[in-house]
Amino acid sequence: MKTIDSVLTEKRTFVPPESFVAQALLNREGLDALHKQAQNDPDGFWLSQAQELVWRTPPTQALDDSDYPFVRWFADGQLNITESCLDRHLSTPRRNKAALIWEGEPGEHRVLTYFELHREVCRAANALLKLGIKTGDRVVIYMPMVPELAIAVLACARIGATHSVIFGGFSAEAIRDRVQDAGAIAVLTADGGYRRGKVVPLKHNVDEALKHCQDVRHVVVVNRTGQDVSMHPGRDHFWTDLLKAESGRCEPAIVPAEHPLFILYTSGTTGKPKGVVHTTGGYATQISFTTKYVFDLHDEDTYFCTADVGWVTGHSYIVYGPLMHGASVVMYEGAPDTPHRGRFWEIIDKWGVTIFYTAPTAIRAFMRWGDQHPNAYRMDTLRLLGTVGEPINPAAWVWYHETIGRKRCPIIDTWWQTETGGIMVSPLPGATVTKPGSCTQPLPGIAVEVIHKDGSRCGKNEGGYLVVTRPWPSQLRTVWGDPERYRKTYFGDLKVGGRPVYFTGDGARFDEDGYLWVMGRVDDVLNVAGHRIGTAEVESALVGHPHVAEAAVVGRPDELKGQALVAFVTLRGGLAATDQTANMLKEHVVKEIGAIARPDDIRFTDALPKTRSGKIMRRLLREIATSGRAVGDVTTLEDFAVLQKLSSSDSDEE
Ligand code: PRX
Repeated sequence: MKTIDSVLTEKRTFVPPESFVAQALLNREGLDALHKQAQNDPDGFWLSQAQELVWRTPPTQALDDSDYPFVRWFADGQLNITESCLDRHLSTPRRNKAALIWEGEPGEHRVLTYFELHREVCRAANALLKLGIKTGDRVVIYMPMVPELAIAVLACARIGATHSVIFGGFSAEAIRDRVQDAGAIAVLTADGGYRRGKVVPLKHNVDEALKHCQDVRHVVVVNRTGQDVSMHPGRDHFWTDLLKAESGRCEPAIVPAEHPLFILYTSGTTGKPKGVVHTTGGYATQISFTTKYVFDLHDEDTYFCTADVGWVTGHSYIVYGPLMHGASVVMYEGAPDTPHRGRFWEIIDKWGVTIFYTAPTAIRAFMRWGDQHPNAYRMDTLRLLGTVGEPINPAAWVWYHETIGRKRCPIIDTWWQTETGGIMVSPLPGATVTKPGSCTQPLPGIAVEVIHKDGSRCGKNEGGYLVVTRPWPSQLRTVWGDPERYRKTYFGDLKVGGRPVYFTGDGARFDEDGYLWVMGRVDDVLNVAGHRIGTAEVESALVGHPHVAEAAVVGRPDELKGQALVAFVTLRGGLAATDQTANMLKEHVVKEIGAIARPDDIRFTDALPKTRSGKIMRRLLREIATSGRAVGDVTTLEDFAVLQKLSSSDSDEE
């Protein structure tokens, strides 16, 4: 029996443009050679990639899995990651190149060269040292998207303190839980941050949280909005006051490769926060490798990733990776629709952005807002587009390709996770023929398989569990303070050849060409009349309809079928939310996929409940579809009004 039925078929293919291939760091032959090297000698392959970093003691060994599933990489090497991101550029022409190009939501900007960024990181690092913060201490960072956020991250790394960034949209309770779990002794924050023209009271949230965190000795406050904040004598300091007297040089703390660089708490789970631990040398190696080749990063590039540094995407592909390669990184503080819906496109034109990396949820919002916004800008500097975070439905992929990339730019659909630290599966833009909706093939050195519950490999186009069968350098090493949870969560269930393998939590299939199609989280798989259907595919069919902006599909218990399909749909283009429209959409799904996937119920809504990182919270929708209201944990929800509306419209019907 199949593990998960696949119902989506997408046949279009896109060949990398010749002009792109001609300048690409990796073409087909280059990629094949890397794959071959990695297959024949994975350790040698990763060891050679590690040589791209600045080491104080270069490693002589790669993977050590003697305590599997606990692993170590490059364990005899020593380094400080900031030397790879900053110091190495200072003796080259990159010294005076823009490292960070920062655009504030209200419209101001700041540019920091590599020299300036290095200087500011060193001053901040010296200030932290003076506060008594040492190698191995944990420091929580809770800031808006301002240059000081990147500086704070790098300053912690400079002195070997383990940083834990908390997204600026989180509440006081979330800060409290994370500060306590990490055992942090300092919090770096700001008076406030701008979001859609409003001021978020960051310092106030920290004050609330710290009422329950006695171990925090220092709070450092960046002035961003200028609003009044209360300062706790002896504990709280203003950033500028602390840095004023500090020198622009700071000897880096040299740490072993397995020193914990950061803890990042994963969102969307219930109960105790889960602190994903990443270490230094292996993380840096895979981030360096993927940034260089997946983004085809050249010195002339201006690179814009729209993620927040509070998420792993921002850690790996705003801060660490691009800086290792001396890129010019555009960092934007605010929302994509503030003050207008063309804001990203305006930024692309203003700074001549060449590489743009965003999420499918954002792309679908841009589609809904209308082509007039991107069409008002030239965007002729763009040469490469990327996505991450969810399966991208083919309709959104094609829109992105045509309307943003003007049919000129390859698209890299990058699959990875907070836990993987770096990109695992992705096209290489100068080498891979792409298919809209597929993240294509695993990168060299990455062993990904799709298996049945019993560990046997799934056949072509057969959906199953997506696992990683060989440890990779930027793999999470543990769950902070809870190694057993690490083992149980990721290595608990699935075995290949008798050995536990890392389970991603995702369902997926490989097609007849060996292309990977991620079907969403297996928790979201539905069992309809004996067929196991991934919600992502039904959603993809729905959003393929020109009048659907967004869709989320969940199951509701059904006596006859096991589960009935309930689709929550946001319309666009002025179509009325009537029974007639619902019937038309049901027929559309039948036409695209087949009768098996016909939604039993379509509910129209203005917006879907999402986490602050833009993921649809299907669990809440499941609860609403089943009982009429959401009962579980909602602390990671972005907008509570959405939930209230959904719940009340439901009870109206009753
Ligand atoms: O389900 C997959 C989905 O996002 C999950 C990881 O989420 P998070 O840890 O928040 O990290 C997001 C940024 C790396 C995955 O298990 N996902 C991520 N990228 C893709 C994806 N699903 C399909 N295609 C992708 N490109």
